[in-house]
Amino acid sequence: MLFKQQAWLRQKLLVLGSLAVGSLLYLVARVGSLDRLQPICPIEGRFGARGQAEFPLRALQFKRGLLHEFRKGNASKDQVRLHDLVQQLPKAIIIGVRKGGTRALLEMLNLHPAVVKASQEIHFFDNDENYAKGIEWYRKKMPFSYPQQITIEKSPAYFITEEVPERIYKMNSSIKLLIIVREPTTRAISDYTQVLEGKERKNKTYYKFEKLAIDPNTCEVNTKYKAVRTSIYTKHLERWLKYFPIEQFHIVDGDRLITEPLPELQLVEKFLNLPPRISQYNLYFNATRGFYCLRFNIIFNKCLAGSKGRIHPEVDPSVITKLRKFFHPFNQKFYQITGRTLNWP
Ligand code: A3P
Repeated sequence: MLFKQQAWLRQKLLVLGSLAVGSLLYLVARVGSLDRLQPICPIEGRFGARGQAEFPLRALQFKRGLLHEFRKGNASKDQVRLHDLVQQLPKAIIIGVRKGGTRALLEMLNLHPAVVKASQEIHFFDNDENYAKGIEWYRKKMPFSYPQQITIEKSPAYFITEEVPERIYKMNSSIKLLIIVREPTTRAISDYTQVLEGKERKNKTYYKFEKLAIDPNTCEVNTKYKAVRTSIYTKHLERWLKYFPIEQFHIVDGDRLITEPLPELQLVEKFLNLPPRISQYNLYFNATRGFYCLRFNIIFNKCLAGSKGRIHPEVDPSVITKLRKFFHPFNQKFYQITGRTLNWP
């Protein structure tokens, strides 16, 4: 009798177990298909003159699947050829500014199904050795994409390097250029913080920000200090304007990208002639990080690395006031040239 009861119980458990495993498998399959199907709609008004009629569904699937596998080395070259994948020169470049939020901007734009990012900073145009390797070398550094997609790269050193505007112009005189800026004093402190962290990692001592930013002899702002010079945005932009008309630039407000990223990204979508595809769903605030993070789908989301969003050292308020006063006229000129007024002090 006892034996019979045990056998019955075992059978029941087996049935229940199979049901549970089956349901689980169904859910996993369903979640996978939701991921693939979710954000697909026809995309109107393609990239300017060439104007493709509709963006293929497979491009998005590809981004989530094959491209990822290929980068990990799990997809063959034949598969890549089969899917018409190409390595394209960038149609837009985030040229700077260092510590403006260049990584966040690139990663957020990459949420768009028609955008493919070059993950690494290539430093092709600012590094003579790389530049000497030629444009094919540069193209080979680009990620695989569908011809209808656009490739974007970011190398913040481009903005401040003298030779770069001419070199980019020679590659593509109608390229779109993105500049992400932050309030200049905050950006300079962020720049300093990054260098300081590097020194500390190597157990080296470093000067205080105040000592670098203010010339001890004159008590004026030290314009020889690179972090200060980089924040004089208008000076650098003027060099670029010798090659490109202002219409080819788009200014991203890096301070707003931190607190309210979506409207900034929507402005970029418009500038790049991309249909609006990035939505609030793709961005969620992570209280632990204190920043917005990225949601690609219900399974895959990510925050930027810990090196983005460092805690800045405290800076003497009188030095901050002095720097803000120093940057003020340059900022006014920057607003005037770009047509974008930012509420910097
Ligand atoms: P801080 O480290 O000073 O806070 P870049 O990528 O050009 O080096 O810029 C780094 C800056 O991006 C960070 O500067 C941070 O404030 C800003 N940033 C903007 N959006 C961010 C995000 N979602 N996550 C992390 N950092 C972000």
